[in-house]
Amino acid sequence: MEGISAETAEETFEVELTVNGVHRGARVPARRLLSDLLRHDLRLTGTHVGCEHGVCGCCTVLLDGEPVRSCLMFAVTAAGHEITTVEGLAAPDGTMSPVQRAFQECHGLQCGFCTPGFLCTVTALLRETPDPTDEEIVEGVSGNLCRCTGYQNIVKSVRRAAELGASRPGEEES
Ligand code: FES
Ligand code: FES
Repeated sequence: MEGISAETAEETFEVELTVNGVHRGARVPARRLLSDLLRHDLRLTGTHVGCEHGVCGCCTVLLDGEPVRSCLMFAVTAAGHEITTVEGLAAPDGTMSPVQRAFQECHGLQCGFCTPGFLCTVTALLRETPDPTDEEIVEGVSGNLCRCTGYQNIVKSVRRAAELGASRPGEEES
C-alpha cells in the first residue's frame, strides 16, 4: 500500500517480510536500503554498515538463504522474502550456531565489526559446501573485509565450523 510520509513528503510503501522467522512490516520510502530497514526501522543493529558501496561485506544478510549485501538492496525489493540476520543465527534459546561457536573458539574476531557479515557468509558457504578446502574457504570469504585479524583465525574458524557440522540442520546444538 502506498502513502506519503509527513516528514519528507516522499511517497512511502508498506514492506512486509519475514525476518529471523518473524513476520515484520514497515512503511518506507522507495529508496530506503535494506540495511537501513533492518537497523533503523526494525532495530536489528547486528547488521553492520561499513562502506555502503558493496565492497566490505559487513552488511551481509541471508535472503532466502543466499548471502546478499543489504546496503545494495532496496527494502522494497526484499518484500515477501525471508531474511536472516546475525540475530537469527542462534537457536531461539540463545544457543550459538556452530559457526558462531567456531568463531568464538578460534578467535575469528577482534573488534568484531565485520563479524556479523562473516557469520552470515560462512553459514551460507557451509550449507553449499559442507567440507570446503582451504582454497574454497578463502574464495568463499573473499567478499568480506576484516581490518584486524589477518584472516588466519577466520579461516581456522570456518574449518572448525565445518567440523562442528554447521551445514547439517537439526544437529546444530549437538
Ligand atoms: S556496507 Fe555493504 S558491503 Fe560494505
Ligand atoms: S574483526 Fe575487526 S574488522 Fe574484522
